[in-house]
Amino acid sequence: MRPLIQTLIPSGHSPSDCGEAYAPANIALCKYWGKRDEALKLPRTGSLSVSLGAFGTHMRLLPAKTDSLCINGMEFPADDKAHRRLFGFLDLLRAPDFRLRVESRNTIPMAAGLASSASAFAAAVKAMDALYDWGLDGRTLSILARLGSGSASRSVYEGFVEWHEGVDPTGMDSFAEPVAPVWPDFRVGILTLSEAEKAVGSSEGMKRTVETATLYRAWPEQVARDLPEIRRAVLCHDFPALGRTAENNALAMHATMIAAWPPVLYWRPETVAALHAVHQLRAEGVDVYATMDAGPNVKLLFLAPSEARIQEIFPHMQTVSPGDG
Ligand code: DP6
Repeated sequence: MRPLIQTLIPSGHSPSDCGEAYAPANIALCKYWGKRDEALKLPRTGSLSVSLGAFGTHMRLLPAKTDSLCINGMEFPADDKAHRRLFGFLDLLRAPDFRLRVESRNTIPMAAGLASSASAFAAAVKAMDALYDWGLDGRTLSILARLGSGSASRSVYEGFVEWHEGVDPTGMDSFAEPVAPVWPDFRVGILTLSEAEKAVGSSEGMKRTVETATLYRAWPEQVARDLPEIRRAVLCHDFPALGRTAENNALAMHATMIAAWPPVLYWRPETVAALHAVHQLRAEGVDVYATMDAGPNVKLLFLAPSEARIQEIFPHMQTVSPGDG
């Protein structure tokens, strides 16, 4: 993979004393679920997300004698999973004998049940770009971030972002691009329903789904319908269409996981209760929709005027304004 990556990075640049960058977390409205190439993290379909503004990862990279990782003030030893994954990724981008001190700070509330891997890998690529002054464009940053975690390809941008699946076996046409800025009233509500570590990670969950779930055959067709509709709804601020398509897309993704064997069932009783409460609110005329990733927690999509009523039903909801950078 390294030779492929080297074609994207300008040669002859020396590192400076420090490279610093920020990348937001993101939530997919049309999900990425299933790879066509595991190593290059090439997806079977496109996806579309909204970045979470000020919720994300700040990262500083400092040339050092040995590799070390500090996240939110805590040191992570070399045999830790997070350490191995991050430095395994940085190895793709750096000279073999070059060591780094990584200082990372997540502004995503720790208990929010939001994956920080997307913002972490996107911030890592941007910080490497700053450290070496490579001047990489968004497309290249996105391709490189994708190699850390598929959803990180979308976290190099703010706003609504689309990741094109591409067709090239090298992955050079599989990158994300901005679709539109977030409109000011758009809100994401985070419901933390369980903080237990999930039994099946997203990479393993999607692999198992692709390999064992006959329902997965219907997934590309679902995305082929949902992605253009969500893109249209984003561009013309058609919130009800955006919300219902995003909720249906998330539930369809979970249906494919549940149909895998062994089943990939992330839902807890609290997850189902929250979905029923969302449907009850809609029956009352409140425009609120749910989405979920590879875990039991639910994220709500709504517009600012509905916030007070939704907060009454979900007092612990944390609200994000994705448009606030
Ligand atoms: C359900 O990007 O975490 O959140 O590419 O294997 O690192 P890898 O997977 P990851 O998967 C995210 C899956 C999802 C949907 C999405 O974000 O589109």
